[in-house]
Amino acid sequence: MKILSRLALAAGMMALASTASYADGLKGKVIGFSQIGSESGWRAAETSVTKMEAEKRGVVLKFADAQQKQENQIKAIRSFIAQGVSAILLAPVVATGWDEVLGEAKDAKIPVVLLDRGVDAPQDLYLTSVASDQVKEGRVAGDWLVKTVGDKPCNVVELQGTVGSTPAINRKKGFEEAIADHKNIKIIRSQTGDFTRSQGKQVMEGFLKAENGGKDICAMFAHNDDMAVGGIQAIKDAGLKPGKDILVVSIDSVPDIFKAMMAGESNASVELTPNMAGPAFDALDAYFSTGKKPEKFIITESKLYTPADDPKAVYEAKKDLGY
Ligand code: AHR
Repeated sequence: MKILSRLALAAGMMALASTASYADGLKGKVIGFSQIGSESGWRAAETSVTKMEAEKRGVVLKFADAQQKQENQIKAIRSFIAQGVSAILLAPVVATGWDEVLGEAKDAKIPVVLLDRGVDAPQDLYLTSVASDQVKEGRVAGDWLVKTVGDKPCNVVELQGTVGSTPAINRKKGFEEAIADHKNIKIIRSQTGDFTRSQGKQVMEGFLKAENGGKDICAMFAHNDDMAVGGIQAIKDAGLKPGKDILVVSIDSVPDIFKAMMAGESNASVELTPNMAGPAFDALDAYFSTGKKPEKFIITESKLYTPADDPKAVYEAKKDLGY
């Protein structure tokens, strides 16, 4: 009941206009959004929530899909600057290589808000960053595994996100920190699946072949649910039972992972809200209205879901939210 009311509240917040009044600060402004692409269900949801939040607040959103390429994001930012937008939302595909273009936005006095991923650049080049604590996400996944396997030996295979992206770097770090004092748990293989379902499946097929058809693998840690869903398919194709023969833990909490939980094929997922735009627009609204700079880092929640959390109810509550 508790979960249901929390989800109903979250669904309500996302599906209906927020009750906050929209100060003239943001209303009518043209905002550019450089999105990474559509590599995952989570990304698709973030795109639709951002468009929906913009519409509710009377923001004119200029959307640019970078198809996973940093060069396309840089071009989009330059085009937004040339068009004289009031602000730019940037979901940066990788961490490095942003100083020059962010410097150009700063020189043009256009505030940039980072969404869901970080950059390795001086903090004065962006107004604020709305993202989860990605190290914590990895730690929560690792803590779950430590608790679940106890003292038993456990060989883990890891499906990493996009190389050079902050969620791939930080989720790996957090997971490794969590298992560091538990010598019975070892990461035996780790490779990127670029946050996509198809590559998650392909990489897991390789891991299964290399590890005695999967018999030497105890758990699969995927940096996102889409790769986990691909990996689950590979485990099934290899004649093993995901969730039982090989434990499955991942990050995002998209509806499809709850379907997998209902089928007993996923054991845990750390939730990442796709609503990064709400806090970003709130921060911009306040900034345009008062000139007050927001906190540099706005951190979203990281909650762990397991089959004990009524996956059917969670699936029902999430399935129409734009994933
Ligand atoms: O940056 C957030 C990550 O990007 C999500 O966890 C993943 O699904 C997406 O591709």
